[in-house]
Amino acid sequence: MFTICIECSLFELLHETVRHISTGSSSSQILDNCVGTESCILHDLQEMVAVYGVLHMALTLCFLLQLTQPDMLLMEPSLLQYPDWKGHCFLREEVAKFLSEHCRSPVPLKAENMVVMNGCGSIFCAVAAVLCDPDGKNAILIPSPFYGVITEDVDLYSGVKLYCVPLDSEVSESDARPFHLSAEKLEHALERAKKEGVNVRAVILVNPHNPLGEIYTAEEMTSFLNFAKRHELHAIVDEVYMLSVFGEDFSFHSVLSLERIPDAQRTHVLWGLSKDFAMAGVRVGTVYSENRDLVQALDKLGNFHGVAGPLQRQVAQLLKDKEWLNEVFLPENRRRLKKAHQYVAAQLTKLGIPYLHRGAGFFIWADFSKYLKEQTFVEELCLWRCFVKHRVLLSCSQAFSCSSPGWFRIVFTDQQRHLQLGLFTICLVYTCILINCFLSQVINNTSKYCKFLFQFYFSCGTMKNCTSTLF
Ligand SMILES: Cc1ncc(COP(=O)(O)O)c(C=O)c1O
Repeated sequence: MFTICIECSLFELLHETVRHISTGSSSSQILDNCVGTESCILHDLQEMVAVYGVLHMALTLCFLLQLTQPDMLLMEPSLLQYPDWKGHCFLREEVAKFLSEHCRSPVPLKAENMVVMNGCGSIFCAVAAVLCDPDGKNAILIPSPFYGVITEDVDLYSGVKLYCVPLDSEVSESDARPFHLSAEKLEHALERAKKEGVNVRAVILVNPHNPLGEIYTAEEMTSFLNFAKRHELHAIVDEVYMLSVFGEDFSFHSVLSLERIPDAQRTHVLWGLSKDFAMAGVRVGTVYSENRDLVQALDKLGNFHGVAGPLQRQVAQLLKDKEWLNEVFLPENRRRLKKAHQYVAAQLTKLGIPYLHRGAGFFIWADFSKYLKEQTFVEELCLWRCFVKHRVLLSCSQAFSCSSPGWFRIVFTDQQRHLQLGLFTICLVYTCILINCFLSQVINNTSKYCKFLFQFYFSCGTMKNCTSTLF
């Protein structure tokens, strides 16, 4: 059985784990002890800045709930040898069982279609290298904004470029949702790419979406997959936030739950432990594909991207503990995600900062565009610098290749007191901007008033001159 620790920093995780081992306190006691807020915000801010230099609200790490296990160092001799490069069979079997249950696949997923690598980032590198030619003309379509690191991932081995399908922040008659993705938009982007001589080989679909938090319905995903099928494109579906869905009004449908995947041979589904298990450091990502050629090619690349044998065993043990995962860890994780999201959303509402109200992921996509002097990426960078100067690190829309400046991603998966500090600082920056605006208006008005007086005085003088010449 695993124990849960809520923590906000690695120091606290260690502290709590050591305390748990030494006092034998129950996991619920640990949960209770760690929950709670501090009132002395300024003291905390000083402490945070002194220790970390900056408040991180940019990296999608989850500090709400983390797993520790007392038998971490258990070793079996067989695990010390070269493994199957696709991942040990026992782990692929456990992942297949786990995903069959959580994706609600109509038939059990097969271990032979599963590849395990050291993170989804590596899977993006490897899959792009397998699907595309390294001639500099191959590209992969991706709706933007998107999780920006994918750009470097797909470029690494074969120089594959991403071709953006820009999604607009403005709503229109045909688009009721900001940043709405549709099959038509994919079609238009593909047409544009063809005209530019770009050879599109695949499309990346992220669901739940980072940074939008959007969850696409089964119908929407089917229409995107049909688009891919029509054009014989591979669909790389990233479902790394699959179990981090906390909004009651939202439900997630994996493409692996579809009765019929439009082109199963060209559909490859990614998932990993970094997000849903808050275990970004263990580096475990998986891809499920019925395409034998792809699986075999990934097997060849696997020796650069393998996961250490003992770790594979630990992950398999974790996934096996169905009762604990389903009854304790996953519901508790969702509850904490929801609570943290609600807190940040409420604060943004109080500040009058618009944001996308969605129910998945570790972040809120918020619109700070009204605080830009001009709607440009240069001004966005100024605002980003302003946040950094005040020790809060957020990610701005440029980092996600977004076409609308002024949107920022705020990561909320941290303890409430850190969120309080972060939001306090955002509020501080926001107040400074308002004061600045007010002062510049006053100065502007004052200078207008002076100008008026001067003109008045001047015109009086001119009139005096005129009248003196008249009379
Ligand atoms: C949408 C998405 N895909 C993939 C990754 C990378 O996952 P991993 O840690 O497994 O490499 C991230 C990390 O933030 C992500 O947000």
